Amino acid sequence: MPALTRRGYAGPADLRAMQSLAQRIWSKASSLHVGDLAWQRFQHAGREAECPTVLWEAGGEVVAWGWISLPGELALLVDPARPELALEVFGWFEDTASAAELAVTVLDAEKHVVAALERCGYALQESSVHQSYESRLLVDLPEPVVPAGFTLRPVVPDDLARRVAVHRAVWHPSRVTEPSYRSVMAAWPYRAELDWAVEAPDGRFAAQCLIWLDERNAVGELEPVGTLPEFRRAGLARAVCLAALHAAHHAGAREAVVYPVINHPKSAGALPLYRDLGFRPYARTLTFTRTRRRIPPFPGSASPEGAQRRR
Ligand SMILES: CC(C)(COP(=O)(O)OP(=O)(O)OC[C@H]1O[C@@H](n2cnc3c(N)ncnc32)[C@H](O)[C@@H]1OP(=O)(O)O)[C@@H](O)C(=O)NCCC(=O)NCCS
Repeated sequence: MPALTRRGYAGPADLRAMQSLAQRIWSKASSLHVGDLAWQRFQHAGREAECPTVLWEAGGEVVAWGWISLPGELALLVDPARPELALEVFGWFEDTASAAELAVTVLDAEKHVVAALERCGYALQESSVHQSYESRLLVDLPEPVVPAGFTLRPVVPDDLARRVAVHRAVWHPSRVTEPSYRSVMAAWPYRAELDWAVEAPDGRFAAQCLIWLDERNAVGELEPVGTLPEFRRAGLARAVCLAALHAAHHAGAREAVVYPVINHPKSAGALPLYRDLGFRPYARTLTFTRTRRRIPPFPGSASPEGAQRRR
């Protein structure tokens, strides 16, 4: 087996390397889409300081990575062919997080990570707030329809202020700014022709839908979607999502996924919207927690580095 190396995140090229793992192991049992990674990394400025991130590589490719949101939340991706690396990531998490309670969110279908969490003494939290992973094949897509006076169109660079304004109003209070959204637009695999908006008669953007396309797996991810509060239940989100889905299909997507938060008051309309658009669930997130203590060694673990680090 090739030697394992570990290094800290050093910039956008490393995000690409992390995305390459997400693409390589993409399946219905995989928690992260390449677009999710770009959005989470760039939507807010200052992520570098808030989110310590480490990559594990073997044979010239990334085989696992961990991303901490300080003080104590971990996201990770582990190649299912190297399940023991989950313990490496948990060890680094324990050393780096600053919270007394550690929280890890994974997909129920990521069996190898769930098994490692249980082995390390993490306990499943029974919170009803979670994300439902939903998908839809891009066949039989209805045509989008907007009310008279509204216009559906993709975003162009000059729209930056309006594009950011609709996001900030939907998600108030929001940390998305014009500079941070410019970073989103510069990130791979952002494509302006998949960033759609509904323009209201007064010129504001009333609704938006951004789709990220993973060309290798022919799957688009909707993230984010929103309608200004004063324009809700007029069919605008339905229309802007359909327009973006048609564009994604045209660009090569065969399927779309979306991860609405369930039982959160700010997102009450999300699941009904996606079900109305024909999305159906295939997995859900689970959150595991535990207080800090030593992690037991993994039986047959091939990694001396991890064992040394934890001594
Ligand atoms: C979710 C959201 C985008 C819906 O926008 P919208 O423009 O009001 O949605 P539409 O009018 O296009 O709704 C289409 C259908 O979705 C369903 N739906 C949408 N919002 C709903 C709600 N609050 N309750 C129940 N069903 C809802 C309905 O079936 C609706 O059709 P109908 O009005 O004919 O019954 C909007 O409420 C919003 O921006 N919420 C905050 C941000 C968010 O949660 N974004 C999604 C997750 S990224």
